[in-house]
Amino acid sequence: MNPAEIDSTRSQAQGEIDACSDAAALKEIERKYLGKSGVLAGWLTRIPSLPAAERPVLGQAVNRLKKELGEQVAARAAALEKAAAERDATSGTFDPTLPPARLERGTLHPLTTLTREIEDLFVSMGYQVADGPEIETDWNNFQALNIPPDHPARDSQDTFYLKSAGRLVLRTHTSPVQIRSLARLAPPLRVIAPGKVFRHEATDASHEHTFHQLEGLVVDKHVSVAHLIHSMKTLLRGIFRRDLEIRLRPGFFPFVEPGFELDARCPFCENGCSVCKQTRWVELLPCGLVHPNVLSACGVDPEQWSGFAFGLGLSRLVMLRFGINDVRLLLGGDLRFLEQF
Ligand code: FA5
Repeated sequence: MNPAEIDSTRSQAQGEIDACSDAAALKEIERKYLGKSGVLAGWLTRIPSLPAAERPVLGQAVNRLKKELGEQVAARAAALEKAAAERDATSGTFDPTLPPARLERGTLHPLTTLTREIEDLFVSMGYQVADGPEIETDWNNFQALNIPPDHPARDSQDTFYLKSAGRLVLRTHTSPVQIRSLARLAPPLRVIAPGKVFRHEATDASHEHTFHQLEGLVVDKHVSVAHLIHSMKTLLRGIFRRDLEIRLRPGFFPFVEPGFELDARCPFCENGCSVCKQTRWVELLPCGLVHPNVLSACGVDPEQWSGFAFGLGLSRLVMLRFGINDVRLLLGGDLRFLEQF
């Protein structure tokens, strides 16, 4: 490297930059002279090994060239960009009136929409929204709910047991949140608990192994079935936006006494349809008055306090509300289904 070599490189590089007519080629020229392994970088690494007298002169000359070429490349890039924009505008390939590309927007899952609506409704009636883990102890999921080991009621909720010393289960219903709430809060209390539950069962259009429930629990003085019925009617009015006739049938759940299955008049027909299987009634939710054994197991005196509880099949209610005919669509992750909401 000497002053003559620097000058000839200057004129060669400037010629190449001036002659360059597209952005990719310009990048290539920039890399060749100014890149990390380019000509100028090579020279700069050799400067320290030059005789002391030559070092400052050549070092300054190389740095000057580096600055000049950098400015020239930037100016050429701007000129090429401007020329391309002018070309697009005059050639008719750029149409400023075209609408922009559509932005993909996410929407709420119907389960989320309905859960939020129900939460708002119950919060307006003074309820708290509670949460509980999806992995539960046998005590919370069964025993404290008056379902001891070997009780036949366990058969109706086929359970996924975890391989753990403490006999943990994937919760089979949201009722363990009743136990957690009773342990955490002193009565009087009003709680709802939406969440995912799991059952080891064969799936079909109305049965999933993973589905959603919404639990409700009220504990206060002198709570009766009349309070339960009124709350459930208010819930249905909130969901279906009109009053629906309801009926109670006896239902057995060890954690309530008496226990009921609550049916509502089919919201879709007058004379029978496929949703209500021509009966004009749809089964909506099991419920009942909290069994004294459950209150006692949680340290609440059943002589002083009473309560009602319900366990809404949220997945099935979503199906009713949005006209979905297969529960497996809800958690199937099929975008063609989800995009409809
Ligand atoms: C229970 O789970 C009770 N814990 C409900 C309860 C709470 C009763 C409080 C009394 C007091 P059950 O097993 O019936 O009950 O389930 C409740 C609802 O979950 C059913 O009515 C149904 O709507 C829904 N459900 C049950 N199994 C499935 C399933 N495999 N797929 C989708 N939904 C289901």
